[in-house]
Amino acid sequence: MKQSWQLSFSARIDGSRSTPIYLQVVQAVIRDIESGRLTPGSYMPSSRELAGILGINRKTVVLAYEDLIAQGWLESSGTRGTIVSMSLPEQAGRPRDMASPPMGEAGPEYLFVSPPGRPLALPGGRGPKLDEGAPDGRLFPTDLLARSYKSAVHRAARSNALQYRDPRGLAALRESVAAMLRSQRGLQVAARNICITRGSQNGIFLATLVLVQPGDAVIVEELTYEPAVAAFKARGARILPAGLDEEGIRVDDVERACRADRVRAIFLTPHHQFPTTIPLRPERRLRLLDLARQFGFAIIEDDYDHEYHFDSQPLLPMAAYAPQHVIYVGSLSKLLLPALRIGYIAAPEPVIEAVAHMVSLTDGMGNTLTEEAVTDLIETGELRRHARKVRQIYARRRKAFADVLDEQWGDLVDYAVPEGGLAFWLRFRTDIDRLETNAAAMGLRFASSLSFMAREDAPRGLRIGFASLTTDELRAAIGQLRRAAD
Ligand SMILES: Cc1ncc(COP(=O)(O)O)c(C=O)c1O
Repeated sequence: MKQSWQLSFSARIDGSRSTPIYLQVVQAVIRDIESGRLTPGSYMPSSRELAGILGINRKTVVLAYEDLIAQGWLESSGTRGTIVSMSLPEQAGRPRDMASPPMGEAGPEYLFVSPPGRPLALPGGRGPKLDEGAPDGRLFPTDLLARSYKSAVHRAARSNALQYRDPRGLAALRESVAAMLRSQRGLQVAARNICITRGSQNGIFLATLVLVQPGDAVIVEELTYEPAVAAFKARGARILPAGLDEEGIRVDDVERACRADRVRAIFLTPHHQFPTTIPLRPERRLRLLDLARQFGFAIIEDDYDHEYHFDSQPLLPMAAYAPQHVIYVGSLSKLLLPALRIGYIAAPEPVIEAVAHMVSLTDGMGNTLTEEAVTDLIETGELRRHARKVRQIYARRRKAFADVLDEQWGDLVDYAVPEGGLAFWLRFRTDIDRLETNAAAMGLRFASSLSFMAREDAPRGLRIGFASLTTDELRAAIGQLRRAAD
C-alpha cells in the first residue's frame, strides 16, 4: 500500500505540465526535504518502486536521483539504497505537511524596501495614454533600426567587442556624443568627459550615487520630475523644495537653504523646466552658479529634451559655461526612441571615473549592440535626418494641440504654448480632483498632478505631451479628458 507521503508526492507530478517529468521529481523531492517531510537519513523508495508509484519510466527516476545526488540533496547508501543526505540540517520547527509555496504565492519573510504607493511609471492598460512629453516611436523607420542593429552585430563581432568592456561605454559613441555637445551645445568636452548611461533617468541615479550620502540635503523645485526625487530619496537624501515662478527657480530660496543646511546638490531642468516647460532665465542661472561656487554644491542639469526648440535658439546649457559645478545629464530617448535606453553624463573626468565605478556596481557596462547601432545611426547621418523630419512634425502637432485645447476647453484651461520640448503644462479652472478621478475611471492614462509636486502647496496642473499622438488621436484623447471634467 502506498504511504501518505507517496500519495501526496505522486499528486504533484503532472505529465501535462511543460516542466520535464524528471525535473518535477527533483523539485518535489527538494520541496519535501525543505519542508521537513523528508528528513536527513530517511530512505527514498527505490527507482523501480517510485517509477511504479508515479507511473513513469524508471530511467526518469534514475536521472532525477542522479541529479539530486549531484546537488547534495540525496546520497547513495551503497547496496541499501538512496537516502536523504545526512549532512543536511534537520528542518526542525517547520510543519511537516506544509510544502514551500510556489514563488508566485510566496510572501517574503524578510525585510525589504517597498516601492512608494504611487508607481513612477504611467499605469498600464489599453486606454489612451497622455504621456509627459514622449516622442512618437512610430516615426522612426524600423527598417533603418534593424539595419543599424545588423551592422552593429557584424561590427562588434569583427572587432571582438562582444565581451565585457569599458563601463563608460563604447569609445566611438562617447566621441560622437562629445562632438555633438561641443558643436551644438557649447560644452567643451572630450570623450573622457562622457559616460554612456541607460537613458537620463539612469544618469540621474548614477549622479545621485556619486554625489549624495544618506542624510545629505538636495534641493529640487517645488514642481519637478518625481523619478529624480525618488532617486535622491532612495539614497537617503533630505529633499528641500524651492519655490518657482515664471522665470524659474527662486534663487533666494536656494540661498536660504544653503545658509541653513549643508546642501550637496540641486536638481534642475533649466532648458525646459519640468513640468512647467519654462526656460530658466540667464540671470538666475548666473546667481545659482555664484551660490554653487560659494557653498560647493553640484548642479545636476537634466537636459532631457534639448533637441526640441521651436521658436528661437535655445540658451546654452549651464554646463557650457560652468563645467566644474555641473553634472550634465542628456538622453537620446526623445530624439530617437525611449526603448533604446541610451543617455549620457558629461562631467569633469574624475566625476566620470566615479560614475563609471557606479556603472560597474549596478550594471557592469551598457549594452554594446545598442551603443554600436546608435553610433551607426549617428555616423551615417540618419539621426540628423530623423531629427529634421520629426522637428517639423512635432511643430505641427504643437500647434494642433493648442488648437484642440482652445476648441474643447475654451477658458477652462490656462496654458502657454511651450517654446520647446514636447509637452504642455496645463492649469485647469475646474475641480482637478474630480477631473483626474473621472479621467482615470474612464481609462485615460496620465501622470497624476501630485506626481509633479515636491511640496503640498505647489501649484497643481497636468503635463501632457503633444508629440506621440497624431492630431486625430490627440483630439480624441483631449476630448475624453474634457468629458472627465463634466
Ligand atoms: C525631466 C526628465 N528627466 C528624465 C527623463 C528620463 O528619460 P530617459 O531616461 O528615457 O532618458 C524624463 C522622461 O520623460 C524626463 O521628463
